[in-house]
Amino acid sequence: MVKKIVPVFLLAILTALCLTGGDAVPAEGGAEIPAGEKYVALTFDDGPRRCTTERLLDGLKERGARATFFLIGQQIEDNADLVARMAEEGHQVGNHTWSHQRLDSVLPDAAAQEVARTDAALEALLGEGEYWLRPPYGQVAEGADFDVPMVKWSVDPRDWESRDTGKVTQAILDCVKPNSILLLHDIYPTSVEAALRVVDRLQAEGYWFVTVEELLWLNGVTPEPGRMYRTGRG
Ligand code: NI
Repeated sequence: MVKKIVPVFLLAILTALCLTGGDAVPAEGGAEIPAGEKYVALTFDDGPRRCTTERLLDGLKERGARATFFLIGQQIEDNADLVARMAEEGHQVGNHTWSHQRLDSVLPDAAAQEVARTDAALEALLGEGEYWLRPPYGQVAEGADFDVPMVKWSVDPRDWESRDTGKVTQAILDCVKPNSILLLHDIYPTSVEAALRVVDRLQAEGYWFVTVEELLWLNGVTPEPGRMYRTGRG
């Protein structure tokens, strides 16, 4: 079995797979991903937090796994190097509001400000782009008009509640299936360890870890601004 550890090596494998036929879709990082495999998207909210996010990035890199990070705006400046590293290593970076504000419990102007301020911080650091939104608690006010795709999840192991690596790992493995979007928080060491255990286990079962954007593309779904996505299928 080929280990997907070194990115350059991974790229070579992907290129070989693409050349041997089958559809492929373009990925943000420039690599191509073979279609017709089992894919899953890990997502991490509420970071970055230096002592846990760094360990997670190291672990994902070792395993050739990509993920999606929905960041708290006010934590970006102090962790700018980690955020830059996320983008460099092919992860998707998104918006989780400036101060973890519940967007359906404030006036529309305040909600828009929470999102726009984080968007500005991300653009200043990573350049212009579309930074997808995960609203805190998965909720936006009815009729809210955000101009990027929004992401919920299909598997929630409630990692913040148990803070137990074994329980979180098992809760995910009990529910995961191809095209799942998994919700975790990279501010807890237990969640970071659980995520890496899940990657090891599912890679051994033939799963590939891709970003949410890649997961949608792999399913032929064109992301639309203002729409909420819960799985790779929509
Ligand atoms: Ni959150």
